[in-house]
Amino acid sequence: MESKIKTLQDKITQAHLGGGEKRIHKQHEKGKLTARERIEYLMDEGSFEEVGMLVTHRTTDFNMQKEVYLGDGVVTGYGTINGRLVYIFAQDFTVFGGALSETHAEKICKVMDMALKMGAPMIGLNDSGGARIQEGVRSLGGYADIFHKNVQSSGVIPQISAIMGPCAGGAVYSPAMTDFTMMVEGSSYMFVTGPNVVKTVTNETVTSEELGGASTHSTKSGVAHTTSPNDVACLEDVKKLLSYLPQNNTEFAQSLPFELGEEYRMELDSIVPENANKPYDMKEVINNIIDEDSFFEIHKDFAENIVVGFARLGGRSIGIVANNPMFLAGCLDVNSSIKAARFTRFCDAFNIPLLVLVDVPGFLPGTDQEWNGIIVHGAKLLYALSEATVPKVTVITRKAYGGAYDVMNSKHIGADLNFAWPTAEIAVMGAKGASEIIFKKEISEAADPAAKLLEKESEYAEKFANPYRAAERGFIDEVILPNQTRRKLIKGFSMLENKVVDAPKRKHGNIPL
Ligand code: COA
Repeated sequence: MESKIKTLQDKITQAHLGGGEKRIHKQHEKGKLTARERIEYLMDEGSFEEVGMLVTHRTTDFNMQKEVYLGDGVVTGYGTINGRLVYIFAQDFTVFGGALSETHAEKICKVMDMALKMGAPMIGLNDSGGARIQEGVRSLGGYADIFHKNVQSSGVIPQISAIMGPCAGGAVYSPAMTDFTMMVEGSSYMFVTGPNVVKTVTNETVTSEELGGASTHSTKSGVAHTTSPNDVACLEDVKKLLSYLPQNNTEFAQSLPFELGEEYRMELDSIVPENANKPYDMKEVINNIIDEDSFFEIHKDFAENIVVGFARLGGRSIGIVANNPMFLAGCLDVNSSIKAARFTRFCDAFNIPLLVLVDVPGFLPGTDQEWNGIIVHGAKLLYALSEATVPKVTVITRKAYGGAYDVMNSKHIGADLNFAWPTAEIAVMGAKGASEIIFKKEISEAADPAAKLLEKESEYAEKFANPYRAAERGFIDEVILPNQTRRKLIKGFSMLENKVVDAPKRKHGNIPL
């Protein structure tokens, strides 16, 4: 008995050493935690249970039978985060650089299957040199098995990918199909083809960091939803993100205890400037509406003309989509439409109510936008907000012009409650542009065309640059004082709690991709 127990203990010790002390030391030298240290940090103390610790690869090519590590380069299992069940895999860079073999993939697939069956979030900590080169197509098959399961799980359980080292080639497509990709600054990178291949094919000289580091993907490509300065901060972000999400698509995110008080926020009365062409920061509006310090922003540095993120309002988890006049005057463009559409669909899939804050002068004009398909990309946001059946509430703080008015969660596309501030301007376009078109003849024939334009502009503004025409038609349910916004929203989302929408039966819609 004793010797058998010792055999098991030896195996456990061996598995815990991964690729050995030297490689663990190398991992630490790079400022990275090991797979097991990451899991230990992320999970509630003592809650992690490992599955498949003794799995080994089956390859004999290239004498691989002589190099076998228990666990085969990935630690998999389940545990709790703040008391909630989650499933996890963490790739172990100390074993073949975390490269994915057939068995490594099987281990990941096994916990993905469990997560889906049990309806709990799936978290992947990626740190891998990609396909296990010694295994060839078997490794590629392993990736495809994971991709397929990512798709099966999409919209059923939240899937979160933390990129904590290399993630290259086929490996990038699993994170890309999960709901959130969170990168560590300086030590992680993602690309389809690395700097050497880029040099050969396009003759561009680029470093891994420039090509696919956290800053590239959080500002240029939008591949990364969040970035963090180190492993620990990234894992903290995973925990924080999870706190806003339900376990699966049949549940609601946990609400925090809350009692309605006065909830007036006088600061909101002075945020919108007198001059309608002056910018202001919509994040200031957001922070004055939501529960204190509760904003978890997604895609913070990408397409900043729209702000998206999770927050708590009266203890309830909500998703926020908001134009930000600080950037591109808050116009909708290709990137902001894609960003907001994806976020909207995530919230809708997981029963997270949506708050849409509107200050949008329209779609960004120009050849760059038209040639890059703003028509189709703008349609994504229109489609996503129309399609969403979660409680949807809109507040127009200032401009809501043209087609962008329709897109930004207007009453017409199914918003449940539409509020406007007295500063709202709801019209086909701005007063100047409108006057130049409809009074063209009158202006050109006037003795002083510039003065005539000004006169017509103010006439138009007087008529349309306000929320009252829309309110008369019922397109706006209520014009509210800015300081009442938080109170109105808490009561509104509470009223909408049991919203039910019966959609017609279909396989799936055809969102313009
Ligand atoms: N398959 C098998 N083993 C791999 C591997 C892979 N795809 N990628 C890395 N390894 C192994 C290395 O042989 C090395 O083994 P060792 O510890 O026995 O020396 C170990 O992982 C660490 O790799 P190393 O190159 O020393 O680490 P690094 O930090 O300097 O570089 C990479 C990391 C990922 C940039 C580099 O290993 C690499 O380019 N790997 C290949 C990437 C690739 O083309 N993958 C296939 C396409 S998807």
